[in-house]
Parts: sequence; C-alpha cells; structure tokens
Amino acid sequence: RIPLVIDTDTAADDCFALMIGLTDPRADLRAITMVAGNVGFEQQVENAFLTLEVVGRRGEVPVHLGARQPLEREWASASDVHGDGVGGQQREGSEQAADEPAPDALVRLAREHAGALTVIAIGPLTNIALAVQHDPGFAANVAELVIMGGSINARGNITAAAEYNIYVDPEAAQIVLDAGFASVRFVTWDPLSLRDVVFDQARIDSIRSLGTRRSDFFVTANQQTFEFDVAVGVGGSIHCDSLSVLVALEPALVLEERGYFVAVETQGELTRGATVFDWRAVAPPANATAIEAIDRERFVEYMMRMLAEG
Ligand code: BDR
Ligand code: CA
Repeated sequence: RIPLVIDTDTAADDCFALMIGLTDPRADLRAITMVAGNVGFEQQVENAFLTLEVVGRRGEVPVHLGARQPLEREWASASDVHGDGVGGQQREGSEQAADEPAPDALVRLAREHAGALTVIAIGPLTNIALAVQHDPGFAANVAELVIMGGSINARGNITAAAEYNIYVDPEAAQIVLDAGFASVRFVTWDPLSLRDVVFDQARIDSIRSLGTRRSDFFVTANQQTFEFDVAVGVGGSIHCDSLSVLVALEPALVLEERGYFVAVETQGELTRGATVFDWRAVAPPANATAIEAIDRERFVEYMMRMLAEG
C-alpha cells in the first residue's frame, strides 16, 4: 500500500478526494492536513471529520491543522462557489484535531517513509511550502507530490489567468516548485479537468439513485458547487481533486503526461498566480509533469463504484 498524506481545503470535491484515500485498498492514508482555502478554516475541519464519519473511519486517521492564511497574501474565500462545502450536513462525533501542526506532520511522515511517501495537495500550497522551509530534507524524502492546481494554458477560474489553488498562495507554489522534489505531477484546470471530471445532471441523477450514505453525501455536498458551475457554463460539479488522488494510486488512469519547466507569476496584476508551463523545445529542464489525458470512463466508473459501496 502507498503511504499517503492528503493536504486539503476540505469542501465539496475535496471530500471525495479524501474518500478515495480513506477507502481505496491501495492507499495507506497516514494523515489529513488542513490548509486555508475554499471555505472557513473551522468549517473545512468539520467537513474532513464528517467525511471520516461517512466512510466509517471515525478517529482512525489524524487530522492536522495547518496554515490559516497564505504566506503573504490575504486569504481569498471560495464560499460563493461551495457554500459550507457539505450542504449543511453535520457530523455526530466530536473528535479533535491532532496537536501536531500540519507542516510538522508532513515533515515527520516524510522522514518516517523516506523515499516512499506520496503527498497529494488539493488546496493552496501553503502547508507544503512551510514543510519545505521547516526541513531542508523534506523534498528529498517525498517520493511524489501531486498538485491539483494551475493551468497549462493560463486559463483560470478565480481570474481569467489563474486557477484558485495557485492564485490564493502563489509565493508558496513557487517555493514548492523550487524545492527540488523528485516528482511533481500537476492535475491542472484545463480541458483535462473541465471535460473529463465533470459530474453533469445525468451523472448526478445516477449517483442519487445509488441510494447509499456515500451517494447521498455526494449529492448534498456538491449541490451548491453544481449550481455555480452550471451557471458559469461548466456543466456540473468538477472533481479534479478526486482525480489527483486516483492518479497516485492507479497508473493506468493516466494516458498522457509530459514534463515541463513550470513557474508561477507572483508579480502580475492581471496574472497573479498564473502558472507558466514552458512548452518550448528550448525550455529549461523540467521541474514537473502535467497530466494531459486520462481514461475518463475509468475515472467515472471508479467514482460510481466507490459511491455505490457504503
Ligand atoms: C480547486 O479549487 C477548489 O475549488 C477545488 O477544491 C479544487 O481544489 C479548483 O480550482
Ligand atoms: Ca480543493
């Protein structure tokens, strides 16, 4: 089993990324680390604990609290997109977060699983940058870092040029890219996400008809995001965070992936947080890869199977 940490701003799609980490037999989820992002920090923590409950794993995986704001910027909420991130659902339990802060947990787990740990970052990169700053050996200890963020073609969602996770903390993203990780894999906000991981009305209807606790949770937690994304022309709720977990577990899912030198715009006014993927033959050596095609049916079937199960 692959030792994993998921670093998350838990709301809507993040819940189902966590669900994969918590239920897939190939995953050994060692910790959930929380970072400022989508919705209020305390609400995100509630959402992570609720997800543990929905899959029957209450108290089994520690939840560590990390950065409550970006390194240098004001926090930018996405509550207009996600609401509270779970459609008003509340957990029954009262488990508490671990005492150890998220960046420390990342550093410790990377040491304990040196050369084997996969870190999946599905929120802004603040905690990962703090772990890099706390331990110069952190990047070398991590086998693989999967990042949901950015856009190969600099077409964003929170602004025209920037994807939300990178926009919120561009300085952190640049620190992470400079850190020398052996493998950084991007799941970007591009046709890859927009085309392949959308749950449109027909898919939501078939999920609803599964009638399981997980499927009810899915439909309710994603309702507000679904309505927002339909209104802005995307066509349904988007699950690029779930895809980011699954690419780490299921190599056959990835059909095309190529290396790029990637940098983040930290100065621009119109382009703050835009990712620049150098596509040229004369580009500097690659510091990351971008996943450019996936087996879409396989992804959807996986999600349906997971949601049918419990
Ligand atoms: C990213 O931001 C959030 O809305 C999603 O959870 C995803 O991580 C997409 O821009
Ligand atoms: Ca997210």
